[in-house]
Amino acid sequence: MLGAMEMDEREWELFLAPYQQAVDELKVKLKGLRSEYELESSHSPIEFVTGRVKPIASILDKAKRKNIQLDRLHSDMQDIAGLRMMCQFTDDIRAVVTMLRKRKDLEIVEERDYISHKKESGYRSYHVVAHYPVQTISGEKKILIEIQIRTLAMNFWATVEHSLNYKYKGNFPEAIRIRLKRAAEAAYRLDEEMSLIKGEIQEAHAIFSR
Ligand code: GTP
Ligand code: MG
Repeated sequence: MLGAMEMDEREWELFLAPYQQAVDELKVKLKGLRSEYELESSHSPIEFVTGRVKPIASILDKAKRKNIQLDRLHSDMQDIAGLRMMCQFTDDIRAVVTMLRKRKDLEIVEERDYISHKKESGYRSYHVVAHYPVQTISGEKKILIEIQIRTLAMNFWATVEHSLNYKYKGNFPEAIRIRLKRAAEAAYRLDEEMSLIKGEIQEAHAIFSR
């Protein structure tokens, strides 16, 4: 019985199959974009792409936490299929989002800008939630996917913070919370400095190649 927070192994397998399909397909598609830039030997706004299907234990945890009935997972849990796109520079994030908006195989339903509006923790990333159609033997299934776009520095912070968080189960002592926020600001300043350096190098190039 889905509503009663119970799904057997077979039901989970059937439910998650289109999500795994979506993650696999999108990884190929998004990594393909990077290869295109490589062929053109131009700067790729995409450094690398990762993807995962949320583990069943995490789905159950989040469903409980957010009071989502299991028969509503399809519509109410946006990140069962998750993709991450890492960029070298903050500007690249804008380029990637513009590219995603133009795609014909995605229908964006929501964008969350945690770069201009960082989260209380210090977390920064740009989130795009979209409908993605998976072709199955019983026809097309539209599922929700979440794409997180972030710089390498934002990813470094989020990855380490997440693994530390696991230890504290989301309840960092105040002193640690403050230090993590400061670390997030340091990562942000690193991004800003790298962008400035990039700008100056490009300027120098433009002058010398005149
Ligand atoms: P959940 O945070 O997943 O319960 O859902 P939500 O509806 O609040 O979505 P939100 O846009 O806040 O973020 C979803 C995802 O962003 C999370 O699953 C994480 O991958 C990432 N995220 C959000 N906040 C943080 C944070 O403080 N630290 C880290 N490391 N990741 C975060
Ligand atoms: Mg959250």
